[in-house]
Amino acid sequence: MRILITGGAGCLGSNVIEHWLPQGHDILVIDNFATGKREVVPPVNGLTLTEGSVADRDLVSRTFDAFQPTHVVHSAAAYKDPADWREDAATNVAGTINVVEAARAHQVSRILNFQTVLCYGRPETVPIPVDHPLRPFTSYGISKVAGERYLAMSGLPFASLRLANVTGPRLAIGPIPTFYKRLKAGQGCFCTDAQRDFLDMSDFLAAVDLVMKDDAPAGIFNVSSGEGHSIRDVYDAVRSHLGLPADPDVKVVPVGDDDVPAVVPDPSLTRSRLGWSAKVSFAETIKRMLSWYDAHGVSDVYSHLAAKN
Ligand SMILES: NC(=O)c1ccc[n+]([C@@H]2O[C@H](COP(=O)([O-])OP(=O)(O)OC[C@H]3O[C@@H](n4cnc5c(N)ncnc54)[C@H](O)[C@@H]3O)[C@@H](O)[C@H]2O)c1
Repeated sequence: MRILITGGAGCLGSNVIEHWLPQGHDILVIDNFATGKREVVPPVNGLTLTEGSVADRDLVSRTFDAFQPTHVVHSAAAYKDPADWREDAATNVAGTINVVEAARAHQVSRILNFQTVLCYGRPETVPIPVDHPLRPFTSYGISKVAGERYLAMSGLPFASLRLANVTGPRLAIGPIPTFYKRLKAGQGCFCTDAQRDFLDMSDFLAAVDLVMKDDAPAGIFNVSSGEGHSIRDVYDAVRSHLGLPADPDVKVVPVGDDDVPAVVPDPSLTRSRLGWSAKVSFAETIKRMLSWYDAHGVSDVYSHLAAKN
């Protein structure tokens, strides 16, 4: 495959690259390093980097013309400043339109998109079925919903994977790295009274492999474990991993106005349509993540590709 990956320098994109490059695929990354790291897209055989924004229509179009991709993974997304609506709209809406139009012009065999479960807003039912109404209420969620909708009406053979919390190499945001870093530094922690779904990277990559097949069903899929675990469970697991005594009195605070108490997407239709389900248990998922931090630290950039070359 000749795979063009937008946002390939980010957490998910770089894990997809490390998964596919050894299989002999040619990969081109478009990334502006807004949140990604240059070090994870090293100059190695089969991997090309175009630095720039997907919001730059000419750049996207020129890059597609030069690379001639057969497959596209659209992983670029803007989210880092919730008040920067224009950047979110430029990347997540206009940028997605640029990628979708270029993919259509090149008649790619598959285009894969990653969607946030914030698309559902505050869900009426948990686990959240994939046909739950979309009620995003953040700039990131609103712009990501628009992007997914343009993709869905493009006529392209697409898959959009709705994701909650995928854990794996280089994950640096969310409760797991936060607790790990603070507890190691002897700092205090509090837990929000929230339930989240955690999915191990190997389960995520298995779903990605499935939907990239030319004969795989197209459409929108919840890719999740389907199990809600409290932030408190995560806190307890990190303490135990670090050999710290239990902390029954840790402060548990209600979620803020900009947050959602329970985010657990229901993967049952994904199971029946794709034959995919998560294999790695919650305990093992957290353990793998914490062992990775033991070896590489929380914010250090570590690339298996860079290490090999
Ligand atoms: N990691 C998860 O658990 C999770 C959950 C829900 C949704 N997602 C979605 O998965 C995708 C990847 O997320 P991630 O966790 O790897 O985040 P990330 O921040 O690590 O990766 C995003 C990448 O996009 C790049 N980028 C941002 N704006 C760009 C632009 N205008 N042009 C080109 N590149 C740009 C960033 O530099 C970064 O490398 C996103 O679409 C995100 O919405 C991820």
